[in-house]
Amino acid sequence: MAKLVNSFNYLLISLLFLCAHNMLHAMAQWPKGGSTRFYDFKVQMLKVNKLCSTREIVTINQMYPGPVVYAQEDDRIIVKLTNETPYNATIHWHGVRQMLSCWSDGPSYITQCPVQSGQTFTYEFTLVKQKGTLFWHAHFSWLRATVYGALIIYPKTGVPYPFKYPYEEHTVILGEYWQRDLVQLEKNVTTSGGGSPVADAYTINGHPGPNYNCSTNDVYKINVVPGKTYMLRLIGALLNMESFFTIANHKLTIVEADGEYTKPFTTDRVMLGPGHTLNVLVTANQKIGRYSMAMGPYMSAKNVPFQNITSIAYFQYLGATPNSVALPAPLPRFDDNLAVKTVMDGLKSLDIADVPKEIDTNLFFTIGLNVNKCGSRTPNQNCQGVNGGVMAASMNNNSFIRPNFSILRAYYDHINGHFTEDFPGSPLRFYDFVNGAPNSPPNNTGSMNGTRTKVLEFGSRVQLILQDTGTITTENHPIHLHGYSFYVVGYGSGNYNPQTAIFNLVDPPYMNTIGVPVGGWAAIRFVADNPGVWFMHCHLEIHLSWGLAVALIVKNGQGPMETLPHPPADMPRC
Ligand code: C2O
Repeated sequence: MAKLVNSFNYLLISLLFLCAHNMLHAMAQWPKGGSTRFYDFKVQMLKVNKLCSTREIVTINQMYPGPVVYAQEDDRIIVKLTNETPYNATIHWHGVRQMLSCWSDGPSYITQCPVQSGQTFTYEFTLVKQKGTLFWHAHFSWLRATVYGALIIYPKTGVPYPFKYPYEEHTVILGEYWQRDLVQLEKNVTTSGGGSPVADAYTINGHPGPNYNCSTNDVYKINVVPGKTYMLRLIGALLNMESFFTIANHKLTIVEADGEYTKPFTTDRVMLGPGHTLNVLVTANQKIGRYSMAMGPYMSAKNVPFQNITSIAYFQYLGATPNSVALPAPLPRFDDNLAVKTVMDGLKSLDIADVPKEIDTNLFFTIGLNVNKCGSRTPNQNCQGVNGGVMAASMNNNSFIRPNFSILRAYYDHINGHFTEDFPGSPLRFYDFVNGAPNSPPNNTGSMNGTRTKVLEFGSRVQLILQDTGTITTENHPIHLHGYSFYVVGYGSGNYNPQTAIFNLVDPPYMNTIGVPVGGWAAIRFVADNPGVWFMHCHLEIHLSWGLAVALIVKNGQGPMETLPHPPADMPRC
């Protein structure tokens, strides 16, 4: 009898197990094998001594730069964010494609209301088929100036890099340091109608380096063994600038861009805009010594002031005399557009790319600056832009107005009044965008404004031309798309011309941020297969504040694998 009961129990247990197993199968949305990694992120103030003065900055866990999130391809990431500062906060996982997890993307007022002082929110997402160097940063006001850190995704266990294993890896984050309250700064800049003051320093992993006052010892250093090869994970976490990076006497071999492998490309220097990441290999093959790693400005716009002091770190050989003078690293001139183009020309996908060949949706967005007429009775305070106007920036001449509610929430719950769906798929007028009228001085340089979105059908194969305009000034704009990587199939200078444009449909780089050439254009392609509301904007923060943005709404497809799930229960309220 006991035996019978036992086998009956056994049967029952097996049945239960089978059911549970099947249920798990139905719920498991992604290839199994990934682990789940938990992180605790506390938004906290930190006192720092920099540039001869003490300030409180906003950080995660009182670390600057913030904690590194390590993972492997296909891992699930769970980050509990607790806000212990007086500011609002959100975190954006820059470059993470957020398959069916738009709620965890992070841009405030786009996919969520900010996490207010004292509140918590848990981000949860899977790194589906993603590996490489990405990063995370705050996405509220200008807080990302200090709230950022690396997101490093290793290949699955047993899967090698497609290049010789480096002896060591180091993360090198390029940033800008401000001795100001960044939320206040954004408010001041936007109410002034004018430009932004420049950063107080450029930083490498948070260190300004010896060219700045009181910073001789506030310097980052990598110790290297002669003959070994190092992989540097370069991250562009700058706020309002783009920057060059170089190492004295050493070559950089790019092997990955924006978290995707590239064909190896060797160069003396690279340019990173905010939002870019690059993995480069460096071999310590010079004579024993101390070499400068330098970052300095790339400014393609005309008449815009910028910080011009180079940030230096050390690439120091074992056996070098301590405190020896570092060999200087020659940076390109701040306006060396050719240096930027040369690196861009070198970026190719490692393998043959899966580029959409047929296109369902052709889009054309102009990107650039505007000056609106002064409407204020106190022009001295509020109209400090060019010609006594108010600075703005736009896509298709529409300046994006940030709503005070989550667009994703409004879209999902059918709440009216927070956005419209009338963002034009192409400019209302075509003209010589780069060189002239009608949108250039002395003509009307103004923009329209609104919280306009562009709706895309699920699965549509999209080509988007991004065209720089010459209104006020031409400029290289680092345009970032949330929720997707895209193939950069072409780019060039001047106005885009389909007759003469040359496209690479074989091995274009697969990126999440494209530096559209100054006074030029870029063509990108992607398949809209991830439903949600996806922000697309210039990653120069001042341009974002001025409205150089749009939200793309990608509709649901068929069935649960093509449908955005319900919002998490702890979603913050506005
Ligand atoms: Cu890295 Cu919306 O930004």
